[in-house]
Amino acid sequence: MLTAYDYLWAGIFDQAGVDSILVGDSLAMVVQGHSTTLPVTLEQMIYHGEMVVRAVRRALVVVDMPFMSYQVSVKQAIRNAGRIIKQTGADAVKLEGGAIQSETIRGLGRADIPVMAHIGMRPQAVRQLGGMGKIQRQEQQLLDDARAAEDAGAFALILELIPEDIAGRITASLAIPTIGIGAGPRCTGQVLVGPDMLGLNEGFRPRFLKEFGELRKQADKAVRDYVEQVRGGEFPGAEHSHQ
Ligand code: KIV
Repeated sequence: MLTAYDYLWAGIFDQAGVDSILVGDSLAMVVQGHSTTLPVTLEQMIYHGEMVVRAVRRALVVVDMPFMSYQVSVKQAIRNAGRIIKQTGADAVKLEGGAIQSETIRGLGRADIPVMAHIGMRPQAVRQLGGMGKIQRQEQQLLDDARAAEDAGAFALILELIPEDIAGRITASLAIPTIGIGAGPRCTGQVLVGPDMLGLNEGFRPRFLKEFGELRKQADKAVRDYVEQVRGGEFPGAEHSHQ
C-alpha cells in the first residue's frame, strides 16, 4: 500500500502494481503544508479521493476519514463515510482507533461501508499524545485495540510505530491483515507515504522510511536546467518550435 493524493501519482502507483492506495489525511502535511493532519476537511478528502479513484484500474482505494468527521457520533460517522464512498467511488474508509471506535466500526458495517482501522501512533491524537512520532509500546492495550477493531468488523488494520515483536504478535493473533508503517516486517503488508518513499520530502528521514527514489534531487536539477536554458536562449530550440 502507498498513499497518493491525485490522479497523476495514483495512476503511476496503480500501474506499477501496488495492491492498495490510501488517500491519507497525511495530505494535510504532505500536500497542504500543515504541521499536523488535523486541519484537512472532509470536503478536501473527497476532492482528492475523486482524483485518485479516476486514475485507479485495479488497486483497492481507501480514503481516510479526517479529524472530527467521525468522533462525534456513530450517526455522524455513517453520514460522512457515506459521502466519501458515494462521492469518490472509493472502496473503503479508514479511521483511527481500536476499542474506542468499535461502535463506529460496527455502525459503518451495518451501513455496508468497509472500514480499515488504524492503531499505534495515531496522528489525529497528536494533541493527546503530546507530539507525533512516539513509538507505542503498551502491548496489552494494542492487542485489545486490534481485537476490538477486528471483532467490530474492520477488514484490515494499520499498525503505526509499534515495536516489531509486538506488531508480529498482533498480526499472529488476528484473522484480518495488518499493514505496517514503522512496525517491522512481521505485518501482513506495508504502507509508506508515496512522496516520502520517492525521496520527494527533503529533510524527513525517520528510521522506518526507506527512500526508493531521489525525485527531489531530479526535480531540482530539471528545474535548474530549464531556468538556465530559457535564460541562456538554448530552449526552445528549432526542434521545439513550429516552422
Ligand atoms: O494518512 C496517512 O498517510 C496514513 C498512513 C501513514 C498510514 O494514515
